[in-house]
Amino acid sequence: MRVYEKRLDIERDVADLHKQNKSIGFVPTMGALHHGHLALVQKAIDQNQVVIVSIFVNPTQFNNSEDLVNYPRTLDSDVVLLSNLSKAIIVFAPKPEEIYGSKNNSLKYDFNGLEHEMEGRFRPGHFDGVGTVLKHLFTIVSPTKAYFGEKDFQQLQIVKKLVEIEKMSVKIIGCPIYREDSGLALSSRNKRLNKKQLQESPLIYKTLKQVKNDFGTKSVIDLIDWVSEQFKSNETLELEYFEIAKVSNLKSIKRKRKNTKYRAFIAVFAGEVRLIDNIALN
Ligand code: PAF
Repeated sequence: MRVYEKRLDIERDVADLHKQNKSIGFVPTMGALHHGHLALVQKAIDQNQVVIVSIFVNPTQFNNSEDLVNYPRTLDSDVVLLSNLSKAIIVFAPKPEEIYGSKNNSLKYDFNGLEHEMEGRFRPGHFDGVGTVLKHLFTIVSPTKAYFGEKDFQQLQIVKKLVEIEKMSVKIIGCPIYREDSGLALSSRNKRLNKKQLQESPLIYKTLKQVKNDFGTKSVIDLIDWVSEQFKSNETLELEYFEIAKVSNLKSIKRKRKNTKYRAFIAVFAGEVRLIDNIALN
């Protein structure tokens, strides 16, 4: 396995790969890899001649410094997991200075309003940080295709907008949410859940599935009230937001219209750990 820390080293490999006309599949991650990440990497292996995985806990996308400090960092075991998939994967695990130089500054993006909805409302500056790091990483890795999970559906839509704004040629591929048997969406943050929180957190997906089931017959307002009740009676999970939004612009709705695609989005706190999930409704 090649594991690079230095930008210049990976850029040299990437230049060689381009000379050989090899397609490059790229999976950007913040490490603490789980089966959801590995499914993205497997898809990248299936669709490309070479696969690069970045492992970088990006400081500029954290609006909460405690969350940044507590984010799990497990580079050695991540590399083992990746090498079990394929020894040919190239890993890029830079230090912040390699990406940002001496100051961790974000660029300011206008993602056509997508950045102000849901996560954007609760995590100011988050999508500027995501856009900035991906602009840097796409420039370094120069991938043919890049892979993102639909668990962060808003991020996926924003990344598609980013490549449009930055006029980058990478094709963005969205991949389905990977879940535990309990229904809990896989996330690196799940590692921080205690036993009780793990026991209770399947309520999140159970609620989303019920919303999907009732979407045809119940009003949006009734569904929002019902979800709020589910979490009021739970002592372990605290609802931060639940919204039903249009897929096209992620604007939340109070009333559904014909011929429009909708998704339900949820964010919940289990103690200090913030969990998000979403589901396609139609
Ligand atoms: O989804 C993530 O893990 C991060 O937001 C990403 C895309 C790797 C950027 O840091």
